[in-house]
Amino acid sequence: MAGNRTFTMIKPDAVEDGHIGNILQHICNAGFRIVAMKYTRLSREKAGEFYAVHKERPFYGELVEFMSRGPIVAAILEKDNAVEDFRKLIGATNPANAEPGTIRALYAKNVGENAVHGSDSDENAAIEGSFHFAGVEMF
Ligand code: RTP
Ligand code: MG
Repeated sequence: MAGNRTFTMIKPDAVEDGHIGNILQHICNAGFRIVAMKYTRLSREKAGEFYAVHKERPFYGELVEFMSRGPIVAAILEKDNAVEDFRKLIGATNPANAEPGTIRALYAKNVGENAVHGSDSDENAAIEGSFHFAGVEMF
């Protein structure tokens, strides 16, 4: 039976530092199936649109600059309880507070440059997946 879906990005910091392979291995070892995946780059405009929910936050400008400064890996992932389990796998937003062994504990630099994105609800997972992928790119 198909599980739930979540959406992730390996952020520019982790790509720059050569962590794509290790992070994907971590994700696959945790039982997530790849539904869609691409190596791409967000324009400033697209990064701003993706994180529009944070528009009024003091870190928004920095976040948009960061997310558009280099390539990312975007993916849709499937597993039972995907959203919650993926958030557990990546750990807290600030790697200083992330559980040992989580992706952010292993690869994030700080609260801003924190290696990976994970959707925070089933609804947002669907919106974010459609932001990056057409139906024919999902398998
Ligand atoms: P994400 O959406 O990327 O999975 O991260 P999250 O849910 O754990 O955290 P969220 O509150 O949604 O924040 C989105 C991203 O904004 C950057 N941020 N910087 N400088 C700061 O205080 C700060 N706070 C958040 C991070 O890149 C964070 O992941
Ligand atoms: Mg978030």
